[in-house]
Amino acid sequence: RMDKFISELMAKMNLDEKIGQLNLITVGFDVTGPVVSKDVDASIKRGAVGAVLNTFTPQAARKLQELAVKQTRLKIPLIFGYDVIHGHRTIFPIALGLASSWDLVAIERSARIAAEESSADGINWVYSPMVDISRDPRWGRISEGAGEDPYLGSQIARVMVRGYQGDDLTKSNTVMACVKHFALYGAAEAGRDYNTTDMSLVRMYNEYLPPYKAAIDAGAGSMMSSFNDINGVPATGNKWLMTELLRNQWGFTGFVATDYTAINEMSAHGMGDDAKVSALALNAGIDQDMVGEIYLKNLAQNLKDGTVTQEQIDVACRRILEAKWKLGLFQDPYRYTNEKRAKQTMMKPEFVADARDIARKSLVLLKNSNNALPLKKTGTIALIGPLATRQRDMIGSWSGAGDWKQAVSLEQGIRNAVGGSAKIVTAQGANFTEDAQMIARLNEYGGELNVDPRSADEMIREAVQVAQSADVIVAAVGESQGMTGEAASRADIGLPGRQLELLKALKATGKPLVLVLMNGRPLTLPWEDKNADAILETWYAGSQAGNAIADVLFGSYNPSGKLTATFPQSVGQIPLYYNHKMTGRPYQGVALDKYKSRYMDVTNDPLYPFGFGLSYTTFQYGKPELSTTNLAMNGTLEVKVTVQNTGSYDGEEVAQLYIRDLVGSISRPVKELKGFQKVLLKKGESRTLTFRLTPEDLKFYNNDLKFVAEPGDFQVFIGGNSRDVQMAEFKLAGN
Ligand code: IFM
Repeated sequence: RMDKFISELMAKMNLDEKIGQLNLITVGFDVTGPVVSKDVDASIKRGAVGAVLNTFTPQAARKLQELAVKQTRLKIPLIFGYDVIHGHRTIFPIALGLASSWDLVAIERSARIAAEESSADGINWVYSPMVDISRDPRWGRISEGAGEDPYLGSQIARVMVRGYQGDDLTKSNTVMACVKHFALYGAAEAGRDYNTTDMSLVRMYNEYLPPYKAAIDAGAGSMMSSFNDINGVPATGNKWLMTELLRNQWGFTGFVATDYTAINEMSAHGMGDDAKVSALALNAGIDQDMVGEIYLKNLAQNLKDGTVTQEQIDVACRRILEAKWKLGLFQDPYRYTNEKRAKQTMMKPEFVADARDIARKSLVLLKNSNNALPLKKTGTIALIGPLATRQRDMIGSWSGAGDWKQAVSLEQGIRNAVGGSAKIVTAQGANFTEDAQMIARLNEYGGELNVDPRSADEMIREAVQVAQSADVIVAAVGESQGMTGEAASRADIGLPGRQLELLKALKATGKPLVLVLMNGRPLTLPWEDKNADAILETWYAGSQAGNAIADVLFGSYNPSGKLTATFPQSVGQIPLYYNHKMTGRPYQGVALDKYKSRYMDVTNDPLYPFGFGLSYTTFQYGKPELSTTNLAMNGTLEVKVTVQNTGSYDGEEVAQLYIRDLVGSISRPVKELKGFQKVLLKKGESRTLTFRLTPEDLKFYNNDLKFVAEPGDFQVFIGGNSRDVQMAEFKLAGN
């Protein structure tokens, strides 16, 4: 039915109307790129627009939809897209935080709630999930993804697509996912945003591409091209990527939109003038042009010049119309613009309650010496630091339509938790930065920095005075949300500004020092790790941040998050990731071992490894027991491990299973995550967990890009992080 309907519609469309469908404009309440669209109403009315981004609310979306449906010749409805990244009105932790929960049910729930809210708010297309693997915390957008691991990233991509799209896209409470940024955006050289990527195909297929593929296999309706160049050709003009890989090898049938003005930007990449890059993009397989209006202005001439074909334009147009059909827009173009539904849906109490629960699951306890945590709800607590009382940063960057004024600050959360039983004293202690240029930039993009004009010394002195009256210091330090996200790469990833000096002064008071970190990337924290009594990584935890953090600080929730991106000791170690190769001269920790793969000034170890996170209780792992040590090519290996809660709190643990292929036709990583289970164990409780591995889990892309499991020796590791594991061995038998 869809094909027939669209064929009949397309038979009526002229060339300009077809090209119009390939044009995505921006107008409304948000600006998410360097230029904005002009003459919007007139363009819509003449059929020159296929979709709109940054317009939401039922009223605003309806107004534009009416122009398309009532005033254009063929009455083709518009799609409405928006950056619904970690919640729409109810804001969840940033994606890196959500991933740290390792809780697929919670992550899917966050996407489902985002779909409920955004679809009631005029939107039917969300620019999420962002599935770019990144091993470089200098890159600001590492905050928007699931971290460094392709297996975990794939699981998360899958459940997010399901959360957004549900099982039926025509339902009015589901939205189409747009998987981004295709591809390899997270591998930008030197962590500098928009920078070049150059990568072997074997690395791509094994380490960076799996999450995009997983999202497609989960049925994602659309993809967004990335800004970066890949092995010499920008992704947006890369035919190998967009057609050979995406369509021919992976069988993707949805549509591909560019990122913002990415076709135009190919000129700066050195790919030629507007006419040339327009043809390059269409030839590559790009269907829709985001904001750049390059297709609008060039495709007709491209066609005359013979640099593109009518068939290519038709194929792209058909894909956009198919998306509209799948969203049910031809049946009812106003299905997402019901004001009554909007009022009943946004920030419903149950959504807000879920946001608190999901947020606390995403917090990662990095250190806890002398049981500094949980805190008692008595005495005096000094809450100090630039993030102690702020609301703005709680919802993080790319929080779209979220209202930070409705977010719970850390101070508010702590006050809610202690009631009147403890005294809370506060001081800002430091500004985020002393750099005037950075302050101006952060403020321009909605940072609301509220810089304290006093000198840093004066602020630190005051903070120390406040701390001296307290029994414990909670220092809320980190990055302002604008220091992370798009175009927010940092070359130095320690605490910015004078915050470290503040911490040193607080430490000198001799009071217990608890750090509450808020940041969008792994940070380098060597002093902090050595000197703080406890460190809780809270990312930007969303609308309910303060309450969720207080739940953990006071022990009403036992932390269970685990890192999904390695924290380096030093920026010079980057890229540092757990699933690295061995090298021919591996360093094994022997002090004077000169000719080894190592640094002279820092060990190879991370500060906190992938998968790491503490709990208020302790877990002990038994040795993995294998159902066989000789796995047949058509067999299944069961790996059982007993995990015991040996501490004095009930708690959740993420048991992680890694493998190592000891000998391969290409060198293999020292560990690869292949499974995990998050389980709740009562104190004293012991449980035997069963993992299943088949040869499918042992496969990798070899040098011929064949996906193969090679017979031979393997190790399997199980533990509570990628470093501290128990090992067993097995063989994969040949045929
Ligand atoms: O979705 C985003 C993308 O991640 C970065 N550029 C702008 C797009 C639309 O806002």
